[in-house]
Amino acid sequence: MTDDTLPERPRAIGRKSIRPTLQPRDLMGDPEALAGAWQAQVITLLPQAFPGILGESLIGKALKDGLWQLHTLDLRTYGEGKHRNVDDTPAGGGAGMVLRADVVGKAIADAKANARGITPVIYLSPRGKPLNQEMARSLSKTDGVILLCGRFEGVDERVLEHFGVVEVSLGDFILTGGEIAAQALIDATVRLIPRVLGNGDSIEEESFADNLLEHPQYTKPTVWEGRAIPETLLSGHHAKIAAWRKDMAERLTKERRPDLWRAYCAEHGLDPEEDQEL
Ligand SMILES: C[S@@+](CC[C@H](N)C(=O)[O-])C[C@H]1O[C@@H](n2cnc3c(N)ncnc32)[C@H](O)[C@@H]1O
Repeated sequence: MTDDTLPERPRAIGRKSIRPTLQPRDLMGDPEALAGAWQAQVITLLPQAFPGILGESLIGKALKDGLWQLHTLDLRTYGEGKHRNVDDTPAGGGAGMVLRADVVGKAIADAKANARGITPVIYLSPRGKPLNQEMARSLSKTDGVILLCGRFEGVDERVLEHFGVVEVSLGDFILTGGEIAAQALIDATVRLIPRVLGNGDSIEEESFADNLLEHPQYTKPTVWEGRAIPETLLSGHHAKIAAWRKDMAERLTKERRPDLWRAYCAEHGLDPEEDQEL
């Protein structure tokens, strides 16, 4: 399955000079340090918000180990005049301020000059295509992304048109700025880059891997607050465990996500209205 709004990288990239001792903030400031690694360039008025959560846990370790790199472009430095103005009032009137096309344009041009191979330019925006696992998978096969984080009322439309910017939304709600959405997109993408999680199986088995939500998970203690782990999971019988998990995943998907259930049924030649012995 591919996402037709996002191009795929045609070939595997070779890594050259990986410097595993660099700390995340060093990597952020040095886009040429890790030739070949998947590269996220983030255009933002709040560069101090990065790496944020992306510097933690497995994604942060992968950043440190050079499996991907992060570079922020401070939009303020592209601003106009003594006060480095980046925004102005909306043409036609109305509340709030809009990020100027000329200012954003210079930042995008710089980011594009730093990018290599296939690097889509994405504006995090509530008007965009909703971020999903298929899109993350598709992005993980590119050479990187340029992410534009909006603020205020958004961005002058002309700059989006000029650079053929793809709009991507985190969901049907309004955030104050694009930074949280950018971090979510990067996290969802980077964890799919080979060797980042160190366990390919866990990616294969996750929710959405086959248009199904994941089955329930359990661990010790065997009984908690009077609730026991389902017997099948303790049976040691691998085929029965796999069948139980598939059955639970199908039930959950049918109950909670009719859209995914229809896609799953279409892929497997099933009738979504029929009770598949659930
Ligand atoms: C206050 S919002 C602007 C909302 C805009 N006036 C509208 O109604 O569509 C400021 C910025 O936050 C980011 N943002 C807000 N909600 C978002 C969402 N659901 N997904 C991705 N980015 C979002 C965008 O970058 C946006 O330019």
